[in-house]
Amino acid sequence: MQILGIDIGGSGIKGAPVDIESGALSDDRLRLATPQPATPEAVAATIGNLIQHFNWQGPVGCGLPAAIQNGIARTAANIDPAWIDLDTEQFLSRKTGLGITVINDADAAGLAEMRFGAGRQRDGTVLLITVGTGLGSALFRGGVLVPNTELGHLDLNGQVAEHYASAATRERLGLSYKKWAKRFDMYLQQLQELFWPDLFIIGGGISKKHAKFFPYLTVKTEVLPADLRNEAGIVGAALAAVPPGTDP
Ligand code: BGC
Repeated sequence: MQILGIDIGGSGIKGAPVDIESGALSDDRLRLATPQPATPEAVAATIGNLIQHFNWQGPVGCGLPAAIQNGIARTAANIDPAWIDLDTEQFLSRKTGLGITVINDADAAGLAEMRFGAGRQRDGTVLLITVGTGLGSALFRGGVLVPNTELGHLDLNGQVAEHYASAATRERLGLSYKKWAKRFDMYLQQLQELFWPDLFIIGGGISKKHAKFFPYLTVKTEVLPADLRNEAGIVGAALAAVPPGTDP
């Protein structure tokens, strides 16, 4: 079975059809720029372009950088505030004419890593952190997701954690990986003290560069880079749209 997975990020909207049995992309992924401002209308139009590009007619799963409660967006830290309280599934399905399931973007990446990646067969407490425009989190216990943890919004050194330690902040301030790793390590220490996870998985674009900053992390908890790297968000969004009762 194939599902179109779409990962809506602060700077790019990426999509590809996903084979949900294997977790592999069944076509080259396409990345389009996130419209600015990222209003629901503008994002729906970009999703429409992705659907057209893949000539897609089946189910679609979307990861959105917002807390998503029963399809309704509750926050909008890096997207337009017009998303707040919108029934995103109803809205995007109406705009595109296809059945669209929406999940938090970090939760999507977590689902993919737990099934196909670094979290495979890890039963304890696993905390995946995606590092990009913001900091996203996905918490698992015994392989089961606790959705919408939004741990990028904890207070860190007097600031919102994602303002202090995201990849966007590293780039904006021109911090070396070593300098930035100190901030990120502080963040992981805080998460360790609050959750005592058995494993941290680090995802997002920066996970490709893990060799540049993992050596500076001092946290005791085991830390692994996301296996699916930046594709986890696409694969997990597709997994979220698997019809109930189907066992991939
Ligand atoms: C949002 C989260 C999202 C994270 C990563 C945060 O600003 O609040 O919902 O998962 O960014 O995109």
